[in-house]
Amino acid sequence: MQNFTYYNPTKLIFGKDTLAELKNEIPQYGKKVLLVYGGGSIKRNGIYDRTMATLKEIGAEVLELSGVEPNPRISTVRKGVEICKQAGIEVLLAVGGGSVIDCTKAIAAGALYDGDPWDFVIKKAIPEKALPFGTVLTLAATGSEMNSGSVITNWETHEKYGWGSPLTFPKFSILDPAHTITVPKNQTIYGIVDMMSHVLESYFHNVTNTPLQDRMCESVLLTVIEAAPKLVNDLENYELRETILLNGTIALNGSLQMGYRGDWATHNIEHAVSAVYDIPHAGGLAILFPNWIKHTLATNPSRMKQLAVRLFGVDPQGKSDEEVALEGIGALRSFWSSIGAPSRLADYEIDDSRLEEIADKAIARGEFGNFQKLKKEDVLRILQASL
Ligand code: NZQ
Ligand code: ZN
Repeated sequence: MQNFTYYNPTKLIFGKDTLAELKNEIPQYGKKVLLVYGGGSIKRNGIYDRTMATLKEIGAEVLELSGVEPNPRISTVRKGVEICKQAGIEVLLAVGGGSVIDCTKAIAAGALYDGDPWDFVIKKAIPEKALPFGTVLTLAATGSEMNSGSVITNWETHEKYGWGSPLTFPKFSILDPAHTITVPKNQTIYGIVDMMSHVLESYFHNVTNTPLQDRMCESVLLTVIEAAPKLVNDLENYELRETILLNGTIALNGSLQMGYRGDWATHNIEHAVSAVYDIPHAGGLAILFPNWIKHTLATNPSRMKQLAVRLFGVDPQGKSDEEVALEGIGALRSFWSSIGAPSRLADYEIDDSRLEEIADKAIARGEFGNFQKLKKEDVLRILQASL
């Protein structure tokens, strides 16, 4: 294990009818609220009305920023920053999925900064202050509700990067599984793939003596593998939603990642793909991840071997580590296909015409990946294998 400091100040409020907790949380930070949400799902499923009614009860003055895109854009962040500065917003409330939360994080920091909030994303500036914000999560996927990360796209330059700061943890996050019941099948599948990918990114590292972390990661993956096929066939099942929701948060709130740094190259490549083609984040991950594992297998086959045996029950008897690992990769691909995740870039009508451009974007900040460093040629090979 490596030395580590674990810091997570987000108050997690989980369970049925917990939206009412807004009444206790919001007043701690102010009265002037900017409500941030997406393209309208919260209006269709009633969460918007219930949120507004609750905010009204505490006499909050509410302004709104709607229309946050999946793969949220810096142009929308700038609009939010403008509202905060003009209206003297005291606290933000993100109601939605990871995109809404990520956008809110950038607005919260941008509101107290004189320059352009894109500076944070490209690491030209580090936030020194941020407005407080809370979240009401409506989609189990990113873990953004309990971490400080934010992923923002600049559609003018076709760049998509993750950034974060200790100041961009939500003060509180309200997770009511009932809020996720209306998530359509495709987004439910994407969420499942995303949370599994967060654990997989973590699992591939070269640090020794992480037996507890390994078992914790495997527990999350096993739980998702057990619940996901049932959920995609029974979208309104509260208990399955509850299980998946908690898994999504645990997968990326830092608790599994103590004592080592995971790889994270697949996320970097996916961000480059969706910066060029605007595809759903986890659609890209489902396509790329098994190909990344195959590409980097020789670095340390024992990691994938362990996963193959413990997760998918691959019998290692009489087989090399590589053989066991390859069976495990096949099992992962089959599992994702069985729940309806895409497996080829062609599923999004992506051909080989812009692979160079994607690889250049992925490598723009230099070689990357903590399990194995990737160069541009590696990225190209993974992309080609994904066509
Ligand atoms: O926009 P609305 O109308 O709300 O609809 C959304 C959107 O179309 C819909 N949705 C959300 N909750 C719903 C619902 N529809 C019906 N009922 C509900 N209860 O789902 C669609 C997708 O929403 P989005 O927020 O984009 O999905 P997700 O949570 O998967 O977030 C994806 C973004 O997060 C980034 C990704 O790159 C991508 O930009 N990530 C953020 C991370 C982080 N901050 O830690 C880590 C991740 O790896 C990821 O990169
Ligand atoms: Zn992700």
